[in-house]
Amino acid sequence: MPTIVVVGMQWGDEAKGKIVDYVSQDADIVVRYNGGNNAGHTVVVDGEVFKFHTLPVGALNPRVTSVIADGVVIDPAVLVGELDSLAARGYKVENLRISGNAHVIMPYHKVLDRLEEEQKGAGKIGTTGRGIGPCYADKVSRTGIRMAELVDPDQFGTRLHQCIALKNKLLTRVYGAQPLNEADVFAEYETYAERLAPYVQDTAFFLHKCAKQGKKVVFEGAHGTLLDIDHGTYPYVTSSHTVAGGACIGTGLGPTMIHRVIGVAKSYTTRVGEGWFPTELQDETGDYIRERGKEYGTTTGRPRRCGWFDAVAVRLSARVNAADAMALISLDVISGLDKVRVCSAYRNDHRIICDFPTDPVLLKECIPVYDEMPGWKEDISGARTLDDLPVYARDYLEHVSQAVGVPVALASVGRSREQTVVLRPELLK
Ligand code: IMO
Ligand code: MG
Repeated sequence: MPTIVVVGMQWGDEAKGKIVDYVSQDADIVVRYNGGNNAGHTVVVDGEVFKFHTLPVGALNPRVTSVIADGVVIDPAVLVGELDSLAARGYKVENLRISGNAHVIMPYHKVLDRLEEEQKGAGKIGTTGRGIGPCYADKVSRTGIRMAELVDPDQFGTRLHQCIALKNKLLTRVYGAQPLNEADVFAEYETYAERLAPYVQDTAFFLHKCAKQGKKVVFEGAHGTLLDIDHGTYPYVTSSHTVAGGACIGTGLGPTMIHRVIGVAKSYTTRVGEGWFPTELQDETGDYIRERGKEYGTTTGRPRRCGWFDAVAVRLSARVNAADAMALISLDVISGLDKVRVCSAYRNDHRIICDFPTDPVLLKECIPVYDEMPGWKEDISGARTLDDLPVYARDYLEHVSQAVGVPVALASVGRSREQTVVLRPELLK
């Protein structure tokens, strides 16, 4: 059985949750490897909507072991809340494993996330405010607290004491904010530690063993390639490795143990927060897409910026992820338009640019060059095979596939599991 990475090819919110759910029906293990509760992954099963922020989507399946691996940052309050709310709906998550190396999001990370954004003013990133950046910053500067320390009361007390003393100086002397009370934080986090301790272990060892045994492992990427800390539109990115390679870094599994990479992209583009977005539509077509696609954040409720499919950006993703196949999402959302467009290149002065520029100055000045095609009027949400799709919708799939250079293996025509048209099943296994 293969190991499969599912990765977002745009700026997040590509409905990776649906694809992870789809490919993990017969999986043994589903793994989150990056990011934290800045992610919002939605799955619709039998009309019931489930929203995950920290738990892998596989947690719904009792056959599946869910792993929250080393590269994830964990807000324990959120994770405990997710376990409780699933339990209240009749889903008891028993097969959960959490890496002792995963870093813990502390209350000061959330406060600092907000204060740093305020400090940046007009240059703000538009973060989710979940403390993600400050937590990863502590990890890299080797001052973070890890899950293994959280669940050991002696170690946690000492580490919290060290960290909070420094963070309180930062809060009060640099930002003029209120300090945090160490005893309160300890008491709160002690309750989370008790709840989560049974799950904390060496997940890298476990995953390696499972991969060696030929178990099916699905890696659930969070966010999108263009939000990657190294390969995305820096500084308007998140703080983790969102690319497929992040599955190795964030789990401890070596690159030769990954068999397949499935890239997930919407049939158009969305972005939340600040940053460049060449194909953004600030007109009624953008509004049309937002309303039909219910393009409001799962995590923060913010309206998403909407625009045409950007094949230049997705080509970068295809390359850095070495994507074998593409899942194209929300094809139903762009039904009803007279014309549909795909950005196949950018123009800068009189120069045509085919490769996504890493230079933000150049990117800022890029104007999209569009291929325009006829739209389709039919409601396609009931389509289940390629033949059910109108000819112009099929042409659109073909056009996107050609423009990106990666085959479209699946098209999604609605949020539920069944609203799926599989074009190349062999590429999804
Ligand atoms: P999923 O997994 C969409 C964006 C934020 C902000 C930037 C940095 O649901 O696709 P952060 O809080 O991570 O420091 O914010 O990244 N962002 C996302 N946008 N979907 C996500 O995750 C995102 N995760 C982060 O809006 O612009
Ligand atoms: Mg999201």
